[in-house]
Amino acid sequence: MTATPIFSKGLEGIIVAESRLSKVDGQAGRLTYCGYDIADLAAHASFEEVAHLLWNLRLPNAAELAELKKNLNARMALPPDLLAQMKLYPRTAHPMAVLRTAVSASGLYDPLAEDNSPEANRQKALTITARIPTILAAWMRIRAGQEPLAPLTGDVKLAENFLYMATGQTPDPTAVEAVDRYMILLADHEMNASTFTSRAVTSTNSDMYSAVTAAIGSLKGPLHGGAIEAAMKMFLEIQDSGLTLQEWFQQVRAGSRRIMGIGHRIYKTEDPRARILRDYARTLAEKTGHGHIYQIAYDLEQIARSDPYFVERNLYPNVDYYSGLALYVVGIPVDMLTTMFAMSRVVGWTAHIMEQAADNRLMRPKAQYVGEMGLTYTPIEQR
Ligand code: CMC
Repeated sequence: MTATPIFSKGLEGIIVAESRLSKVDGQAGRLTYCGYDIADLAAHASFEEVAHLLWNLRLPNAAELAELKKNLNARMALPPDLLAQMKLYPRTAHPMAVLRTAVSASGLYDPLAEDNSPEANRQKALTITARIPTILAAWMRIRAGQEPLAPLTGDVKLAENFLYMATGQTPDPTAVEAVDRYMILLADHEMNASTFTSRAVTSTNSDMYSAVTAAIGSLKGPLHGGAIEAAMKMFLEIQDSGLTLQEWFQQVRAGSRRIMGIGHRIYKTEDPRARILRDYARTLAEKTGHGHIYQIAYDLEQIARSDPYFVERNLYPNVDYYSGLALYVVGIPVDMLTTMFAMSRVVGWTAHIMEQAADNRLMRPKAQYVGEMGLTYTPIEQR
């Protein structure tokens, strides 16, 4: 079928796939995964249960959950050659660039890398999801001049294992819960830019490592996942600026800078994840003695929400506004925040990759040509 071409800058309003994974209702401010409301999952489920849900379109029973956790645990250790390679990366590299490179490189050590069968893809979804926390924890230690640690074995959540491998200490249960809950909320979000990237790569019949690597690159940008880091940096900048919040806000409004963590292509009301994370960030900040930084974020939100510019444009905090704060107050370094996003979104990416592969058609949109026509070649010495 050849449809009449529609020009939509930024692909706004374009539906590119049918999906059973998640649904965003931007008017009502509702997000569901396979029919379950995100608030219900965040209150009751674990990240591993949500991973099973997205990969299988149903929640696991107890035996399936135990099996999934065992399977993930068994895949967490990194190939020694990958670790050796990571030790050569410049320590100043951005953690998202490290993750992008290491995930791509980890495919070199997976015998299933080039096998695009449904079963191989299921295996690779597990392997990539299991390796990311280990890659990130290893990088935190390598750049600090410490030896990476092997994952804990047994009935250990990915969030707990990540925190243990990063610090070498038994993690504080508050931090484990914060990371686990964050990971549930961020696991999938319909056709966001990185998910679209992963599906576009898959649509060429390329492999899962290529699709996830490309998705990490897409997530890194500050208009998408990079906003979590940018928002946290903004709160710290305000704290250190010596300006009142109103003064800082007016200064930003006078320029072209955006308030990071605010605004969304789909939500024209409050992002339901931001609602959950605001309360959670406040509780965590108070518990960890970081109430002042929460207050900056909260007060800035109030100022922005009563500013006519933001009101007219329906600009509300999105998921990245309070989530960086929730993770920062339990000890995640600011420059690692976007990698936490990738550590959870990998489940959504791999679920979408498998969904795309199961009912594929090459993604090949068009461009509206607006350049010159009818030019003739001029020899170089005449230019
Ligand atoms: N601060 C100030 N103005 C804003 C902001 C903001 N954060 N967001 C949008 N606007 C304005 C924008 O200037 C434009 O105004 P005008 O109509 O006068 O030109 C209007 O609102 C619409 O903006 P847009 O860029 O056309 O809207 P979009 O749907 O393409 O943008 C967005 C969505 C998320 C890129 C944008 O809101 C933004 O840049 N926000 C800051 C970055 C951010 O928080 N990104 C995370 C997105 S959600 C989670 C995720 O994907 O990771």
